[in-house]
Amino acid sequence: MERTLVLLKPDCLQRRLMGRVITRFEDKGLDFVAMKLMRVTPELAKRHYAEHVQKAWYPELEAFITGGPVVAMIVEGPEAIQVVRAMAGATNGLKADPGTIRGDFSSSQQMNLVHASDGPESAQREIDIFFSAAEIQAE
Ligand code: CDP
Ligand code: MG
Repeated sequence: MERTLVLLKPDCLQRRLMGRVITRFEDKGLDFVAMKLMRVTPELAKRHYAEHVQKAWYPELEAFITGGPVVAMIVEGPEAIQVVRAMAGATNGLKADPGTIRGDFSSSQQMNLVHASDGPESAQREIDIFFSAAEIQAE
């Protein structure tokens, strides 16, 4: 079993696509062990996107990710990290395959609806950034 951090980004909520995205994870048989509606602060954005803070496009990314509420969740299942990455699709919605969340719903490199951890280390790091142990349902 693996756990991965998923964010439904502000564009997902603004476009009222939360339910359809969550349904895809449910249909796949994944479990949710934590979930909350929250606002990402600039400080949190810099921690979460530490690898991108120096990039020219980071200020725009920070403005986007802090610009409206997000839903943060921990998704659990066999090989959940790569399964959820595959379901999200390539970063740029124009390049993401049809059938993926980004491929089906996004035509943007930035407003691509979901974040999904890209490996075991980032999953653990990001889960720790977004959730305390008490917020996680262990079953
Ligand atoms: O989210 P993912 O791991 O697929 O992509 P990333 O390369 O780690 O970039 C993180 C996020 O930054 C993306 O999901 C986009 O929302 C945003 N981004 C951007 O605004 N402009 C870019 N040129 C590349 C990414
Ligand atoms: Mg990434």
